[in-house]
Amino acid sequence: MKKVSVTTLRKMKEVGEKITMLTCYDATFASVLDKAGVDVLLVGDSLGMVIQGEESTVSVKLEDMIYHTSLVRQGAERSLVIADMPFMTYATPEQAMVNAARLMSDGRAEVVKMEGGEWLAETVSLLSSRGIPVCAHIGLLPQSVHKLGGYRVHGRDQTSAEQILKDAKALEEAGAEMMVIELVTRDLATEISRSVSIPVIGIGAGPGCDGQVLVLHDMLGIGGRYMKMCKNFMVENDSIQHAVEAYVNEVKAGTFPGDEHSFD
Ligand code: KIV
Repeated sequence: MKKVSVTTLRKMKEVGEKITMLTCYDATFASVLDKAGVDVLLVGDSLGMVIQGEESTVSVKLEDMIYHTSLVRQGAERSLVIADMPFMTYATPEQAMVNAARLMSDGRAEVVKMEGGEWLAETVSLLSSRGIPVCAHIGLLPQSVHKLGGYRVHGRDQTSAEQILKDAKALEEAGAEMMVIELVTRDLATEISRSVSIPVIGIGAGPGCDGQVLVLHDMLGIGGRYMKMCKNFMVENDSIQHAVEAYVNEVKAGTFPGDEHSFD
């Protein structure tokens, strides 16, 4: 069993092996997901909704992320652990460096994730130059929900598609190790995955990405949130372990997401 690193993910992209990622918030689930073969565990700030019962990710605190990341690290052996930087903890490059360092040294995160486009390049460059691996997050940015006025598919018109492609290229150039792309049209996500050399992990972005991520509670059908981009893997499986294994198998085989989970 070899520990997954950012280098492993880059090699997987090079040879065309799909990368599997799920969100995770505690040690027990981390162990289940790790044993089922999930490559990357994302301690997402979606914990604001699925763990804390809030209506968005905006109220999540750095201390919450540090606590949950340390729990996930307890249960993860093989999987790479990425932690979200919460709302307004990376508004300036210096603030990002101090807070990312806490997520890594106190929470033991192996990579930190931040939402934003071109404007974030300076921050990514600073963190990267100081030895902090960054996963960028483009497309729909859930922390900006109040500014955006809701959750919707991005990249549907040419101007927005061109901007997201520019964001991806700028963040790669700044030194991001990988990126998550959320809720964009499948053609745009495919184009971006082909245009950058770092791994692109999609959620609601169609099958053309280098890997896929889902919110754990959604793919287990817990909480009753219906989303077109998601599939409830508990419907055809008799245990959580089997449901997660089915997710891993379907992503690796390229059968999830299908047309019914993607946007044109
Ligand atoms: O917080 C989260 O769960 C995420 C995923 C939606 C990618 O960022």
